[in-house]
Amino acid sequence: MLVAPSVLSADFGNLQRDVEEICNAGCNLVHIDVMDGHFVPNLTIGPVVVSAIAACATKPLDIHLMVENNTFFVELFAPLKPQYISFHIEEEKHPHRLIQKIRSLGIKPAIVLNPHTPPESVEYLLKNLDMILLMSVNPGFGGQSFIDSVIPKAKRLSEMRNRLNPKCLIEVDGGVNDQNIHALKEAGVDIVVAGSYVFKHENRAKAIKSLQI
Ligand code: DX5
Ligand code: ZN
Repeated sequence: MLVAPSVLSADFGNLQRDVEEICNAGCNLVHIDVMDGHFVPNLTIGPVVVSAIAACATKPLDIHLMVENNTFFVELFAPLKPQYISFHIEEEKHPHRLIQKIRSLGIKPAIVLNPHTPPESVEYLLKNLDMILLMSVNPGFGGQSFIDSVIPKAKRLSEMRNRLNPKCLIEVDGGVNDQNIHALKEAGVDIVVAGSYVFKHENRAKAIKSLQI
């Protein structure tokens, strides 16, 4: 299991210290939540802060867009060369076109599904994707409780991906901790995002390792 700590739960007064700490602790990706105050009722960070994170991160960036105008934000963040950019299927009229655009910029494209969105909604896009991100909370905030129905959903998606594109990874985001990590692994999940569990833990390196099962 790969682990992508969500910087949203870091101490923004000591952002460099916290980003370096999780990278030195052996995390696999650095997850960055970009919210525009429209698609979700919260506003987070833009290119100035994300480039400061990119400058001190020694692990690849995983940018999760929770915005209305996906294309605008893809163009804004592309120069930072993240490994993944993921966008919500619920907010995109032309997902196939945007996948092609992200790939043409040398970035791995990923689609995010909200808790109510069925895995079948990405069936026809699966072969074009590097990753699918399943939300296990309603997007917008860190520190929420895990929605259990993501487990059978991940199982269903995992069967679909094994059939259509075994290279496509499955990521789960929201409320992940050492209590639900085994069920996620069993369901076929490859990457977990963890914000409050990692950053509020007294030993962040230990928290990351406890999820790398
Ligand atoms: C929620 C974000 C998550 C969030 C995870 O909209 O996409 O990445 O920061 O935080 P925890 O792990 O605390 O639920
Ligand atoms: Zn996220």
